[in-house]
Amino acid sequence: ELQAAYDAFLFKYEGTYFQTGYTTAQVLDSLKDMTIRDSDVFLVTFPKSGTVWLQQILCLIFSEAHINMAEDINSRRSPWIEYNLENLDFNNRPSPRLFSTHLPYYMIPEELRTPKGKIIYVYRNPKDNMVSFYHFCKLFPSLKKANITWDAFFDWYMAGKVYGGLYFDHLRGWYTHKEDFNCIFLTYEDMIKDLKSAVLKICEFLEIKLDDEGVDRVVEKSTFQNMKKDPLANYEFVKKQFLDQQEGGLLRKGTIGDWKNLLTVAQSEKVDKVLQEKLGDLPLKFTWDV
Ligand code: A3P
Repeated sequence: ELQAAYDAFLFKYEGTYFQTGYTTAQVLDSLKDMTIRDSDVFLVTFPKSGTVWLQQILCLIFSEAHINMAEDINSRRSPWIEYNLENLDFNNRPSPRLFSTHLPYYMIPEELRTPKGKIIYVYRNPKDNMVSFYHFCKLFPSLKKANITWDAFFDWYMAGKVYGGLYFDHLRGWYTHKEDFNCIFLTYEDMIKDLKSAVLKICEFLEIKLDDEGVDRVVEKSTFQNMKKDPLANYEFVKKQFLDQQEGGLLRKGTIGDWKNLLTVAQSEKVDKVLQEKLGDLPLKFTWDV
């Protein structure tokens, strides 16, 4: 019964998985021809790596720079291109546009490769990523009802059967193709340890100059505690029938190392092994503890 509920939750397209009912093969195909502007900014993440956090930071930076986003909440100010549930009109958006996506590098709008626009890729250590993903899955009514278990989820995650596909492939694909794009890489853990430096790095990449007070305001409004209370940022508008945020919600813990509370030694060793096989040759940095 759990397997059936989980199978229905996802559909496979071009080697990766997407959430059923949130997008279609036709929409995904059309994204490849999306017209890109030099001023576009794309936030690219594997799910549960800090997307909502970065949406808040980017929206605050834009607002401090007096850029009018003509939208009210972060999910509309920085919409997912592949999950456009509200049918927002991307083509007629004023510049600069902000977008979010979990797409693998090979499904991204082609014009980004010219290169055009700017991409910020954020990644997180895979053990915390999968723990966050598991807790998030429990907020979906169908999976909660089917009593999703950690052990089942771990196997799906390691098989790449989660929306976003296999984490290790997502990161490898983007990292090894980064020269094709105008792109920077940030880690969730560096942001936890030094948020202000991350904000400054983003501003520099976007060529946006904020004064010290402006930077401090961005940092202050992007802390976990402040975001949890902020209706622009915390997705409290999502209806309970889609996402039941009662237990913790989207902003759940916001820490490094929660994996130690859930992964068994065998599971942890399996991740280490696959990580070494899939990404061991790349100079990527994973931080496992605070
Ligand atoms: P946890 O489940 O470990 O708490 P995404 O937005 O990509 O779905 O990622 C969600 C994860 O980012 C959650 O991790 C969430 O708590 C964390 N997060 C969101 N805002 C944050 C913030 N301001 N500081 C730290 N972590 C944050």
